[in-house]
Amino acid sequence: MDDDLTVLEITVNGESRSVAVDRRELLIDTLRNRFGVTGPKIGCLTGDCGACTVRLDGLITKSCLRISVAEHGAEIETLESMSTDGLTGLQESFWNNNAFQCGYCLSGMLFAAEDLLDHNPAPTEDEIRQAISGNLCRCTGYHAIVTAIKNYADRATDNGR
Ligand code: FES
Ligand code: FES
Repeated sequence: MDDDLTVLEITVNGESRSVAVDRRELLIDTLRNRFGVTGPKIGCLTGDCGACTVRLDGLITKSCLRISVAEHGAEIETLESMSTDGLTGLQESFWNNNAFQCGYCLSGMLFAAEDLLDHNPAPTEDEIRQAISGNLCRCTGYHAIVTAIKNYADRATDNGR
């Protein structure tokens, strides 16, 4: 094996994966190019846009800031893991409120929203804006995204979630 390659064992969306990767390879590149998991997108590659967001061992993180071999043994969840059977309630709210256009920002927005609602089921608009502030959207102007998250949270609270 090439001196620069290291075997990476990692769980992606519940599936154990093993692959030889370059020691400098970024997690976003491993996910997309080696495993064909394309929910996380490549945007800035500097940690600013959030397009590459995944959940790593339960915590949301930007996969362009992670070196794959450093995450040996980790559990990764991507956008694909959110629902295997239709849309989640939160995704439906995004759909119903026209909260995405190109969809490039969806991983970051949905993971940030889920994380917020896990800790704060009835957030204010300001709290929602704060929670998604690490994610850039070039299409929507953010208002529809905030509305989608707020509507979903309000409905879920009314339904006694
Ligand atoms: Fe990772 Fe932009 S591509 S934050
Ligand atoms: Fe296009 Fe957000 S919908 S970047």
